[in-house]
Amino acid sequence: MSTIAVIGTGYVGLTTGACFAHLGHEVVCADIDEDKVARLQRGEIPILEAGLDDLVSEGIRDGRLTFVLGAGSAVTDCEFAYLCVPTPQGADGSADLSYIEDAAREIGPVLTSESVVVNKSTVPVGSTRVVERALGRSDIAVVSNPEFLREGSAVYDFMHPDRIVIGAGDQSAAVRVQSLYRGITAPFILTDPASAETIKYAANAFLATKISFINAVAAVCEAVGADINDVSLGMGYDTRIGHEFLKPGPGWGGSCFPKDTRAMVRIAEDAGYDFNLLKGVVAVNDEQLHRVAAKIVELAGGSVAGTRIGVWGLTFKARTDDLRESPSLLVIQHLVDQGALVRAFDPSGPGPQDGIEVVDDPYTAAEGATVLAVLTEWDEFRWLDLDKVGDAMAARNVVDARNLLDRAALVRRGFEYRGIGRS
Ligand SMILES: NC(=O)c1ccc[n+]([C@@H]2O[C@H](COP(=O)([O-])OP(=O)(O)OC[C@H]3O[C@@H](n4cnc5c(N)ncnc54)[C@H](O)[C@@H]3O)[C@@H](O)[C@H]2O)c1
Repeated sequence: MSTIAVIGTGYVGLTTGACFAHLGHEVVCADIDEDKVARLQRGEIPILEAGLDDLVSEGIRDGRLTFVLGAGSAVTDCEFAYLCVPTPQGADGSADLSYIEDAAREIGPVLTSESVVVNKSTVPVGSTRVVERALGRSDIAVVSNPEFLREGSAVYDFMHPDRIVIGAGDQSAAVRVQSLYRGITAPFILTDPASAETIKYAANAFLATKISFINAVAAVCEAVGADINDVSLGMGYDTRIGHEFLKPGPGWGGSCFPKDTRAMVRIAEDAGYDFNLLKGVVAVNDEQLHRVAAKIVELAGGSVAGTRIGVWGLTFKARTDDLRESPSLLVIQHLVDQGALVRAFDPSGPGPQDGIEVVDDPYTAAEGATVLAVLTEWDEFRWLDLDKVGDAMAARNVVDARNLLDRAALVRRGFEYRGIGRS
């Protein structure tokens, strides 16, 4: 078993640290956020992620998982240092590597020469060299090991990955990183750093493409009177296509797809390729937010100024508490800009949000609303009492941007219903 330092305790870092500890490694997790580290030391999990609390408690109890402030103090004596820090979108669309560089600069002087630095953050091609430079150490191998977990099922995905990608110039370092995953059954792709880094961006770009594609087909369905649910089902049974990521909605969001698609466009541009297809994918996504907002305005009678709109769902998808780049919040922003009075509920308990009222149950969110908009696909919304919802509203209008609710049951109760890609 190995000693591992994990730098950054967000969705990726905390999951990585807790899962490696579960596999039997000695793990020290570091963050620069003092409050987060103090909470983690007490065994409190700052994010909503299924199964993570049990793994963190287990790791702390068995003495295999500890938390410290600052990357430097985590890497003393570690064999592996995992970088799991943010790589947000920079002003020009490219990935901002400053967090990576800061972390690497901090750990460089402390690492022993046998240690391997592993980059799990999503970074553009060439970043392995950026890390090498920031470490200031030519004796330390840098390996790319991108992460593919999905928020909401991060622990499951880490323990049951579709594949594990390891990109390294130094084969012995790659094999050492591979050995950390003993106990996990998955295909391993051992490749060079540029290919590993490209795999991550290409995978996210392709998934975003699938969603934009089905949203574009949904627009066609609306125009020709077809039903996108049946169309997507019929397409998905083709094993070359598959059902995953073929559900229409208000567009993709979250902390990864928006920045990663734009970064991929930029990577291609810098390399002399105009990635028009992916630019189109981004444009369709922006358009989709407007289409959903327009449906709400239309059902409100052509204007939402001074009109109460109820919203179910704020997170970028169900089963997470992550609000970053949430399509729901972007749709809401359009409505608020037009004078709407938005009252929203989300099962993750997101707390106060700028410009809207956040309430703690779905019926209160519907109270007095002229339109109720379902913007995140939380299962909880399927089972609510539709009569009670209708009675609470000022008018029975629903925009179901996830095609989640029972359309027939709503129509039977006198609701005006607008889904996506179906009348
Ligand atoms: N969230 C996902 O679903 C997901 C999936 C795959 C890959 N990724 C990639 O993984 C990376 C991390 O994403 P995330 O969602 O976990 O980010 P996050 O924002 O949830 O967490 C990052 C953490 O790093 C800490 N940090 C920043 N600088 C630090 C430093 N110098 N030393 C120690 N800690 C530091 C921050 O305080 C924060 O707690 C990004 O590149 C992202 O694109 C994310």
